[in-house]
Formats: sequence, structure tokens, C-alpha cells
Amino acid sequence: MNRVTPGGNLDRTIVLVGLMGAGKSCIGKRLAQHFGLPFVDADREIEAAAGCSISDIFEVHGEQAFRDGERRVIARLLNNPVHVMATGGGAFMDAQTRQLIKDKSTSIWLRAELEQLLKRVGRRNDRPLLKNVDQRAKLTELIDVRYPVYAEADVTVDSADGPPAMTMERVLDALEPYLNHPQSGAAE
Ligand code: S3P
Repeated sequence: MNRVTPGGNLDRTIVLVGLMGAGKSCIGKRLAQHFGLPFVDADREIEAAAGCSISDIFEVHGEQAFRDGERRVIARLLNNPVHVMATGGGAFMDAQTRQLIKDKSTSIWLRAELEQLLKRVGRRNDRPLLKNVDQRAKLTELIDVRYPVYAEADVTVDSADGPPAMTMERVLDALEPYLNHPQSGAAE
């Protein structure tokens, strides 16, 4: 059952994809609040399922084990009723996960410039892919490899270098064609 939200309702889960530091969790939480839907952060769910942090999963079991867990957890979450989900930056790169996201949700790529990502990832030091490396070089490499794939998301929104409210506005505009409007739908 959909809640009536000014401007329209969502009848599919929203999945946010994009690089580390793009603002997926921040915008995801706001979107969930806007639509009165639950918010889930896939990374936190993976940690809950594994009983340890992502850093520990990478360190103890390796990246492949993390990717396998990520695939399983996202597949499970996508069976939940309509909600908003933030995914880790690598999730949409997995062909199986990407297909599931396409089948079961409306996906939004939060696209951000390198400088903005660098500024944002600097606030945390718990991302295994960015530990003990040249972060600029690593993010540049990830942009090259991942941006063409992220572009397969249903919607692309530039993550503004400003207050999250600005990005939210862009996201809501971009989502407009994906909303259902109960008042106009009544005439069908
Ligand atoms: C990863 C991004 C991280 C997390 C893991 C791997 C990636 O999530 O899933 O460290 O491959 O880009 P965020 O994008 O939420 O930081």
C-alpha cells in the first residue's frame, strides 16, 4: 500500500548507486523521509549479516567474500516492500546485482566530480579500497572503470557540491516520471 506523498508516490524501491563519497546514504535517508519509506544501507546490512565490519571482512576473508555477501544481501533486501536503499560503490558493478536492481527497483546514479569525492571520502578512513593508497589515483581509476556502468542506472543526478537539499531537489525532479499520482491515476 502506498503512502500519499505530495508530488506523488513511489511504487518501486529506489536504489542509489555511485562511488564512495557520492552521498548515497545522505540522500537515501532524505529520500526515505520524503516519501515516508524505510531506509536501508546495504553496507550496514552486510555487516549485520557477517557480524563484523566491512574492513574486517576485506581483511580476514578478502574482497571476493565481501562481494559474494554483498550480492546475497542486496538480493534479499530487494524482496522487501518498497523502500529506499543505498548500496556500496561496487554493488552495481556486479552483473547479477545490477540485473536484479534493474528488475526490481528504480535506480539512481549519484554522479560526483573527483574533487568532490576526494573531499567527502577524507571524512572517513574505514573504506578498505581507499586505505594506504593514493586516493586521487584510486578514485580516478574507479571513475574510469565504473562511470560507464553506473550510467546504466535509470536516472542520473549530479551530486551537488553544496547543501544536500540541492541534490535532493534534483533527485526529486529526476524521479518525477517514476512517481504515480493517485489523483490523476483515478481517471484511468
Ligand atoms: C566499496 C564501497 C563501500 C563499501 C566497500 C567497497 C566499493 O561503500 O561497500 O568498502 O567497492 O566502492 P560506500 O560506497 O558506501 O563507501
